[in-house]
Amino acid sequence: MNNAYKKFGYFYDEIMACVNYDLWLEFVEEYLKVGDSILDLACGTGTFCNLLALKGYHADGLDLSESSIEIANEKKKLNRLDINYRVCDMSKFKTDKKYDCMTCLFDSMNFLPKKKDIQNMLSCVSKGLKDNGYFICDIFSKEMLKEYSNNEMHEDYETFKIDWYTKKVKDNQLHHDVIITEKGNQPFTETYDEYYYDIKDISHKNLKLIKVCGDFNEDLQDEDERILLVFQKI
Ligand SMILES: C[S@@+](CC[C@H](N)C(=O)[O-])C[C@H]1O[C@@H](n2cnc3c(N)ncnc32)[C@H](O)[C@@H]1O
Repeated sequence: MNNAYKKFGYFYDEIMACVNYDLWLEFVEEYLKVGDSILDLACGTGTFCNLLALKGYHADGLDLSESSIEIANEKKKLNRLDINYRVCDMSKFKTDKKYDCMTCLFDSMNFLPKKKDIQNMLSCVSKGLKDNGYFICDIFSKEMLKEYSNNEMHEDYETFKIDWYTKKVKDNQLHHDVIITEKGNQPFTETYDEYYYDIKDISHKNLKLIKVCGDFNEDLQDEDERILLVFQKI
């Protein structure tokens, strides 16, 4: 089990402020109709669920990180949105209703350590989707694995600084050490791992792969860091 994002959730939104979630929304909306229901797996602090709910979709989210779900619930209250969040492992979830669409964005699937976990997750997805419903996800590419095989990033934010070290520790495994120092406090370290998967590892008999692309609707190129996949339940 990955030990990701124990306290990281409290800092996540500031670190991700540069990410354009609207591009994800635009991409996902191609597969949605007014009023559709969407479950965002590994929803983090709920930024994507908020965007969906603000557009009138019925969004729910789950994530393994308690700190992330705590922030997601605060953001939902602030925006008076009706979103159901729960702390849950995406390789072992059940739903009490069927969804039109499920998403799992920002290389969250790469947090699952084993092919078996991916298979379990896809089974849960397939069970929780309506017939013809969509599953939209992304995985990181070989290019990204190479780029982050020995990487460091140092960034100052308003109330904390971050020192982020990423190392390839096995052929398919990136190890992250994220040291966060809040002003006036002792640093603490979050460590977690991500695992490389090939497109063919993300397959399930009831989910038909209908689209593969690099960044948002562009054809997949060798230099792309992210691979976007769209499946339809058959
Ligand atoms: C890179 S973040 C992406 C968060 C969010 N999807 C976004 O786009 O902002 C990866 C997320 O995966 C979550 N995660 C990792 N393993 C998980 C698991 N087994 N089940 C559910 N969530 C998990 C982490 O807690 C974290 O919030």
